[in-house]
Amino acid sequence: MAQTTTICFANNKGGSGKSTTCANVGYAMSTLGKKVLLIDSDMQMNLTLSYFDDEKSLEMAQSGKNIYTGIVEQRDLSEYIVQTEYEGLDLIPSSTLMSSIEFQLFSKWQREFILRQGLKKIKESGKYDYILIDSPPTLGCWVMNIMCASDYLIIPVEASPWGLFGLANMFEFYEQVKLISPSIEILGIAVTKASERKNYFKQTIETLSSLDNVRLLESIIRIDSTVEWSQDNSKPVMAYKKTSRAAQEYMEMAKEIMKYADR
Ligand SMILES: Nc1ncnc2c1ncn2[C@@H]1O[C@H](COP(=O)(O)OP(=O)(O)OP(=O)(O)O)[C@@H](O)[C@H]1O
Ligand SMILES: [Mg+2]
Repeated sequence: MAQTTTICFANNKGGSGKSTTCANVGYAMSTLGKKVLLIDSDMQMNLTLSYFDDEKSLEMAQSGKNIYTGIVEQRDLSEYIVQTEYEGLDLIPSSTLMSSIEFQLFSKWQREFILRQGLKKIKESGKYDYILIDSPPTLGCWVMNIMCASDYLIIPVEASPWGLFGLANMFEFYEQVKLISPSIEILGIAVTKASERKNYFKQTIETLSSLDNVRLLESIIRIDSTVEWSQDNSKPVMAYKKTSRAAQEYMEMAKEIMKYADR
């Protein structure tokens, strides 16, 4: 039976490419024959919208078949899995109600471990090779839940002037998580939305390469308008335009992640 590796994408800096990277790396892994479960945990529902149109996404949000209900009711989350149109790629959708998740968690016993508990049966079943979790741009009890349920953390960083802002908070938060969930490791930093013509691209790479004990992934995701077109069509970029540069870059990143994530 396959062992399931859980990887979360988190960065408190908004717009750093978490949802886009999670959606596309997940798809790339599935085309490599892996069974992948994506979990959308953000009230913005961007990961859900990457695979389902607005109407279907809102329907799932309103029907209660989503992560919010599963967490608030502390259920086995396998009840909330939906299939995407792609082989080997499933999703637990989110809901706009996730805006109140911090409040909901507050009164719960062992509140940092509700997600880990909810995923227990799914992991034990060995049905998935990878579970990929997209996080909201916050650092609270919910993101702590996400990290406590994960084997690895990937930090997407936008190669922009403000891209590195807040990264120190992220590392401090990770150290706090490690105290209660010691097995989590940072798999690496993923540079996203890069434009090599711009000066700060070089600066970002230099700064990130100089960090101690944190791997900078070699594969880099460049800005490519095909990504936005694919999102507008609720498709991963490889399914939208396989020959695009972005499609190739997400595939390379998926392969690199799989190389490091196989425990
Ligand atoms: N490689 C890319 N090329 C062009 N645009 C991109 C690329 N990656 C992401 N984007 C765009 O950048 C924006 C932010 O990306 P994304 O939503 O993935 O970031 P995020 O970290 O999940 O944001 P949030 O913190 O709000 O959850 C989106 O509008 C997305 O379409
Ligand atoms: Mg997002």
